[in-house]
Amino acid sequence: MQSPTTITSVGELRALTENWRRNGQRIGLVPTMGALHAGHLSLVALARNRVDRVVVSIFVNPFQFAPHEDFERYPRNIEEDYTRLASAGGTDIVFAPPLGELYPHGFATRIEVAGPARGLEAEFRPHFFSGVATIVAKLLIAATPDIAVFGEKDYQQLLVVRRLALDLGLATEILSAPIVRESDGLALSSRNAYFGTNERRIAGQLNRVLGQVATEIQSGVSIAEGERSGQAALLEAGFDTVDYVAIRDAATLSQLDGPIGNMRVLAAATIGGTRLIDNMPV
Ligand code: PAF
Repeated sequence: MQSPTTITSVGELRALTENWRRNGQRIGLVPTMGALHAGHLSLVALARNRVDRVVVSIFVNPFQFAPHEDFERYPRNIEEDYTRLASAGGTDIVFAPPLGELYPHGFATRIEVAGPARGLEAEFRPHFFSGVATIVAKLLIAATPDIAVFGEKDYQQLLVVRRLALDLGLATEILSAPIVRESDGLALSSRNAYFGTNERRIAGQLNRVLGQVATEIQSGVSIAEGERSGQAALLEAGFDTVDYVAIRDAATLSQLDGPIGNMRVLAAATIGGTRLIDNMPV
């Protein structure tokens, strides 16, 4: 079992990664906000298979939360995260900086994003992708990894990060890992910790409904009808609100007039005050 070392400053991270690189070692970064679960560990495992050194960052990024969102109550337990990483193995460094290390006094720079950052999540969380792009760019600049790994659960985020790396000419290759699910199909998420028993049961229906929509589209149902029936099925299953059920071009997330070869169905819905997202290929 390998116990990771925790570091908290960008200077230390740079010194370490420069040293690794001098010794010909390749570096992987797994950016997280902590509250680690098996989904995060699968990202670490993927990174470990590709590179010699793995850095897991743990930082709850305030810029990707709106004032009314759950920044304050977002689950934080660095000790538990550390233990989980240590027993899974594969992590060399936990980078867990304090707020002021990444956002020094007077911080005034944001990355503006468009393309795949338009619509879907952005309609309901307008601040979100600019906040994610800013922190991810900062982490990639600080760690200069050869690869960085993101989960497909946040599918739109994954496309935004790929676009960011391409547009800024960053040398890091962006890799993705499949969604890890509970036995009833619920995608693992740090926010699942908020659910009571009944909410948890309803939450498991999101994946089932997405599967149903994907099957409908494959059997010739129109995009509009698939989206409408998905919305209705989620409300029927007990979700309080449905922000969207959308069938999009999987590569760009642009809207579709009719079916194409590579589609993705994505949804966001709220149950008991907790907002869930999920997606799958069609
Ligand atoms: O997916 C997440 O956990 C976060 O959005 C990320 C990529 C770590 C940026 O804060």
